[in-house]
Amino acid sequence: MKTLFETCTVGAIDIKNRIIRSATHEGTAIDGMVSDTFVELYEELSKGNIGLIITGYAAVSEMDHAGPATLALTDDSVIEGLTHITKIAHEQGTKIMAQLNHQSSSLWSAPEGPVFGPSAVTDPVSGITPEPFTTEQVRMLINEFADAAVRAQKAGFDGVQIHGAHGYLFSKWLSPRYNKRTDEYGGSEANNARIIVETLEAIKDKCGKAYPVWIKLNCSDFDPEDDGVTEEIFLTTANILAEHGIDAIEVSGGTQDGKYASARPRKFSAYHRESAEKLARMVDASVVLVGGMRSLDLAEEIIANTEIEAISLCRPLIREPQLVKRWAEGDRNDAACVACNGCFNPNGTKCFFTLNDAEKEAQKNIMRMLAKIKSA
Ligand SMILES: Cc1cc2nc3c(=O)[nH]c(=O)nc-3n(C[C@H](O)[C@H](O)[C@H](O)COP(=O)(O)O)c2cc1C
Repeated sequence: MKTLFETCTVGAIDIKNRIIRSATHEGTAIDGMVSDTFVELYEELSKGNIGLIITGYAAVSEMDHAGPATLALTDDSVIEGLTHITKIAHEQGTKIMAQLNHQSSSLWSAPEGPVFGPSAVTDPVSGITPEPFTTEQVRMLINEFADAAVRAQKAGFDGVQIHGAHGYLFSKWLSPRYNKRTDEYGGSEANNARIIVETLEAIKDKCGKAYPVWIKLNCSDFDPEDDGVTEEIFLTTANILAEHGIDAIEVSGGTQDGKYASARPRKFSAYHRESAEKLARMVDASVVLVGGMRSLDLAEEIIANTEIEAISLCRPLIREPQLVKRWAEGDRNDAACVACNGCFNPNGTKCFFTLNDAEKEAQKNIMRMLAKIKSA
């Protein structure tokens, strides 16, 4: 029987326990480069006995509009700063991966210059209608992903995770609502998945077959019209990727315009468990479950009774970077995180409860705005 606190191999990476820090946007890079605040965060997390840390999404493409506070793997100059971070993690026996992403039209403001997407379908939250990538640009983008992975590898990351969830580019590519393409990158589930398959292959070509490549996928977009990624599309896509050698699949779900966002309120726990269990029975790739894991008892039960190989936490570790250490040392109380989503902070991701009074007031306005978007 599997246990939470045992050494294991998940997604071709040897890990000291089965708890992962899910990718969490830092918002503290400076012009895409590693800052002191960025380093401090990873130092604190690394000391918290987490098995494996996944960075927040990093930009990979010149055809994207990630802001300056987002880590950018678009240039070799970032490697030195990142090497520092992977060294810190490894000194604590913690593994670390970089998450690779293209934001497409999932942006908070309309930038200058073209925004690219699978097809010219408007994102209802940003109001942006992207320009479709030409087939030639798709090939350039795949290369950019692979070059970013090479930079991550040079910086000492133990692998990379492709972001295929939450309404960003690859997530939209898989969605029949956003992908209306008529070339080989659209028109069927296999064609919609092709860009990710080719990205996976390009990374393995450039970094070596053994270099771990994971993906985070939506088990459903929870689209109000059921027009986006459904569980059926998710399972088909995940199977295709498993057949092409993806090492692990982290099961998430939701988009900003879906019935549920990826980070749900407190009343929901382990909310993608059923889909993750189904997938784990179907594929050889490791399956990781994220979303609403705040109870140690529940995490242990899931690891013991299912084929899910690891559980992944985001907001609980924003509130308590030392949570895993606390649990390992015998304090079994639930994570202190109340899932208020006050951590989505334009000045850099921070737990709401660490803000001073003036910052709390400003942040409450942002939280109201986010709630309005969700109820619109
Ligand atoms: C502040 C914040 C930043 C996030 N950044 C990312 C990200 O960069 N990449 C990603 O895949 N998911 C991101 N997520 C989603 C989380 O990784 C996770 O899927 C979601 O919060 C549910 O897990 P939780 O209940 O443990 O928070 C973010 C969530 C929050 C709250």
